Amino acid sequence: MSLSPTREAPTSNLALDLVRVTEAAALASARWLGRGNKEEGDKAAVDAMRLSFNSLNIKGTVIIGEGEKDEAPMLYNGEKVGSGNGPALDIAVDPVEGTNLLAYGRPNAICVVGAAPAGTMYNPGPSYYMRKLVVPAAAQHAVDLDAPVADTLKKVAKSLGKDVDDLVVFVLDKARHQRLIQSIREVGARIQLHSDGDVAGALMAVDPRSEVDMMIGTGGTPEGVLAACAIKGMGGQILARLDPQSYVEKEAIQQAGIDIRDTLTTDSLIKSDEVYFAATGLSGGTFLQGVTYSGNGAVTHSMVIRARTGSIRYIEAHHNWERLMKISSVAYD
Ligand code: FBP
Repeated sequence: MSLSPTREAPTSNLALDLVRVTEAAALASARWLGRGNKEEGDKAAVDAMRLSFNSLNIKGTVIIGEGEKDEAPMLYNGEKVGSGNGPALDIAVDPVEGTNLLAYGRPNAICVVGAAPAGTMYNPGPSYYMRKLVVPAAAQHAVDLDAPVADTLKKVAKSLGKDVDDLVVFVLDKARHQRLIQSIREVGARIQLHSDGDVAGALMAVDPRSEVDMMIGTGGTPEGVLAACAIKGMGGQILARLDPQSYVEKEAIQQAGIDIRDTLTTDSLIKSDEVYFAATGLSGGTFLQGVTYSGNGAVTHSMVIRARTGSIRYIEAHHNWERLMKISSVAYD
C-alpha cells in the first residue's frame, strides 16, 4: 500500500521526548511535597531534569534557566544540554514552577520545559518581572496592554460571549496587585487569587476546559517566556512588558540595551512555530493531577504540545520503582 500524494509520513515530535524530562523532575521532587523545604525540592527536580536531558539527541542551549552560572550549578543560562547531536535549540526550563506551592503542599506546582529553534526564544537578560495579560484565542484581538482594566474586561467578556460578571480572572495574590484587584472587583468580574504559579495561570486562561477566562498581573519574566511556548500551540495571546520591581533591576535592563517600553507578544517571545512544550503535574490541582505513589511505583500526569501541528496530548504514565530509583538517589537510597 502506498501513501496518497497529499499524505505525508509524520515527523518526530520532540515534545514526546521532553515529557520524560518533566516527568523525571516531578518524580524526583514530589517526595518534598509539603515538607517546608523549597530548596531541596527544587534541587531534586533540577538534578533529575539535568540528568534526563542527556538522553535527548539535541544541541540545546538554556536560555531560560535557573539563573546565572555563578548562582546555579546546573541548568544555568547558557548551559549546553542534550547529546550535542541533532537540532540546535533554545531551551526554557522551570524544574519546579511554584517552589512554595510544592513546599507547602498547595495546588498547581508543575515541572515545565519549552524548546524552540536556536535564536528564536526571547532572552530576558537581567529582567526578573514582566506585566502579563493572557486571553484565549476568541479574545486575542480585543486586548491592549495600555487599556484600562475595566475596558479590557468588558471587551474580553464580549469576545467570549459572556457578561463581565461571568468572567473568572487569574491574579497572583501579591501586594503589588492591590489596585488591580480593586479595579477588577469594581467592574464586577470574579477573581481566582493564587499565591504562586502564573505559568499554570496563563495556561488555564487559554485552556477551554478551565473556568479561568483571563490572566493579568506582574509575574516572572522567565515564566512569561515558558507560557508563550505553550500558547503558541494552544492558541490565545500573551501580551507582556518588562516591569522591573526595583531600581537595580531597571538599571540592569537598561544597561543590557533592552527597551523596557516594548510590548511583547506570543510571536515576539517565540519567533518560530516549531515550538515544543511539556509540563508534568507535581502537587496536583485543577490544572494537572499531581504525582501519586502506590506500592508498585508512581503515576504522573503531563501535557505535551507541539505548536506547528497544534497537537495537545495528555499523558498518564505509570512508572515502576526501578525507574524512580534511577531518577533520584536522594529520595530512594
Ligand atoms: P518560583 O517557582 O521560582 O518560586 O516562582 C513562582 C512564581 O509564583 C511564578 O509563578 C511567578 O511568575 C513568580 O513566582 C512571581 O514572583 P514573586 O513571588 O516574586 O512575586
